[in-house]
Amino acid sequence: MKRIYFFLCLFLLVATLRLQAQRASDREAQADSILSLMTLEEKIGQLNMLTGNWEATGPVLNDRNKADKLKNGEIGSMLNVKGSIHTREMQTLALGSRLGIPLLFGQDVIHGYKTIFPIPLALAASFDAEVMALAARVSAREAAVSGIHWVFSPMLDVSRDPRWGRVMEGPGEDPYLASVMAASMTRSYQHPFEDGLKVMACAKHFAAYGGAIGGRDYNTADLSLQTLHNIYLPPFRAAARHGIATFMCSFNEINGVPASANPYLYELLYKDWNYQGFVVSDWGSIREMVVHGYSKDRKQAAEQSVHAGLTIDMESNCYAEYLPELVTEGKVAESIIDRAVRQVLLQKIDLKLFEDPFRYCNEDRENNELLSAANRSAARSVAARSIILLKNENALLPVKDTPRTVAVIGPLADSRRDMDGNWVMLSNDPIAVTLLEAVRSNYPHSRIVFEKGCDITGEDCSGFDQATAAAREADLVLLALGEAWDMSGEARSKGDISLPGVQQQLATEIYKANPRTITLLMGGRPMIFEEIAREAPAILYTWWLGTEAGNAIMDVVRGEVNPSARVPMSFPRHLGQIPVYYNHKNTGRPPQESPGNYSGRYIDISHKPRYPFGYGLSYTRFHYSDITVSTQAGNLRVTLKLENTGEEDGSELVQVYLQKLWGETTRPVRELKQFRQVYLARGEEQTFHLDIPYSDLAYYGNNGWMDGSGEYKIYLGRNANDMIYEQQLHIP
Ligand code: GLC
Repeated sequence: MKRIYFFLCLFLLVATLRLQAQRASDREAQADSILSLMTLEEKIGQLNMLTGNWEATGPVLNDRNKADKLKNGEIGSMLNVKGSIHTREMQTLALGSRLGIPLLFGQDVIHGYKTIFPIPLALAASFDAEVMALAARVSAREAAVSGIHWVFSPMLDVSRDPRWGRVMEGPGEDPYLASVMAASMTRSYQHPFEDGLKVMACAKHFAAYGGAIGGRDYNTADLSLQTLHNIYLPPFRAAARHGIATFMCSFNEINGVPASANPYLYELLYKDWNYQGFVVSDWGSIREMVVHGYSKDRKQAAEQSVHAGLTIDMESNCYAEYLPELVTEGKVAESIIDRAVRQVLLQKIDLKLFEDPFRYCNEDRENNELLSAANRSAARSVAARSIILLKNENALLPVKDTPRTVAVIGPLADSRRDMDGNWVMLSNDPIAVTLLEAVRSNYPHSRIVFEKGCDITGEDCSGFDQATAAAREADLVLLALGEAWDMSGEARSKGDISLPGVQQQLATEIYKANPRTITLLMGGRPMIFEEIAREAPAILYTWWLGTEAGNAIMDVVRGEVNPSARVPMSFPRHLGQIPVYYNHKNTGRPPQESPGNYSGRYIDISHKPRYPFGYGLSYTRFHYSDITVSTQAGNLRVTLKLENTGEEDGSELVQVYLQKLWGETTRPVRELKQFRQVYLARGEEQTFHLDIPYSDLAYYGNNGWMDGSGEYKIYLGRNANDMIYEQQLHIP
């Protein structure tokens, strides 16, 4: 019997492998047969991407007649064309071309399509791959049923400089957290839906865009190969390992060579990583190689880019205008064009667009699925898991009783548009639930008083009196402060990341008027708010939480959800500290706080962040015990018992850091190498283990990649600056 079973399994395995091989060869054969029919102009058309005219996300060139270009097969993909109606319209034009090759539609679905989720930096703060995956899954579905084949997400740019506007869009400061986010979102975006629809994801911006000097967007990244490989590249490597369909290059140069045509990056991607997908330029970035001072002119920029391995030209027209003559002149072999076109055709085949170019265009399905109750519920749950509890004196939170009078104060308390943050492709009427609306729905029988108190910016304090009067009369005050939605995002870098306007002054007055004040800080970056950090009784950092913002905030305020998010990017105390991050080197003279010493301290400000990476509080308490560390074949194993010793159910983020003590290249004082959100009911305890593959300890040093063997300290930390356990050990 066993022999029959064995041979049956073997037969099935062989049949499956043969079927997979057959399918692979079918798609390759189909791509080759289409390619064989194409003229050079039609091939180059497939490498040309233009924006729709509905909502441009970059500087639109003079508007050319796209309809003619579509009918002539001069465009292979478009962005910023949304919805079944518009995508069907554009697709119909493209199908009218000689070969009728269907278009790809791409879209910046960065944190939701119609149902808006928390900004990606807030998703990173959840430190929970399942939370990240849920956001990606719902977003992918809403995009797919709206005619979108390709989401320009996840943005994987690690950054250590909160002045940079695009930190809101990224994974924070840590390469390991960023890699977990890359893997989770890639898989979740791209997994096919039951009806066969699926979307392509896009790892962007490749690479080191977050290393912009001074935190100024698009600025130079000038860094060592160690920093490139150990800090900026890991999440892109993770995305490639998890089969992400596309990459997008970044605007910046790296050490003198723009990423759009940086041979080092493409060698790494296609040769070292054996990447099988394709690369799209960022908006106009090929053209900008002339501005960088790298390309003599747009023709040379086209030649350099296509030779480097850049597949599709988004919105610079360099490929459309110059590749034909470059091939004719023999400067670019047609085989290079063919290889690029083939990559694009294979993706269109995989999306079954040749079988049915309109399979993503179904208005009824679109209208039924967008903003569904299930999607809003997912957004609310993800949002609550993205809120960080920074301070909670006298256990002011959670607010279990129903206050008779609630004062809702601040410029962000009733601002619908701000709740979505940047990088949302909204129609003109945002629909997010504001804090004020959620307070009213949570406390239907209480007296709710709203006072704006002041604007987000400006020096006008005339609203302070009314606001403090309202605070004085209330049983509970909710104070919503922060930046405006468009103070972070692309081209939104700030030289001063302090809370803008007179908001800190307003907060001081409110705290004097009523100590039962909960401060909600909203924004797209770590802001500086020293007075509030000192004076506020309780602080929740709520980022931009999207469609269900107000409801999620009230779920946390009332204790329906015990906050579990943690700091994904160090909060500076002072602008002068930037860049401040946890995985710094020890140096020969580490900074000491005590004055008069020869150490790497500032003489006028602290060198320590206001809130370190991994920091966050809970409504309950956790006790760690029985911690052991063992070296196994292939991995380290940390075993521990965790107990919820407080009064509330909740999650503890168990964080495992390593420090290599010495070696031929210095390494950071801490490197996060494992984490897990562990949910325990109050009084519950759990014993579990966390494994760290030795391969995760590899490091790019002075002589390239080194394995992880050597002398280490391993830590368990409540955050990067608060270790609760350490042990020295040798990694084989
Ligand atoms: C923008 C952004 C990029 C986006 C693209 C298309 O300039 O840099 O992230 O995907 O253009 O909108």
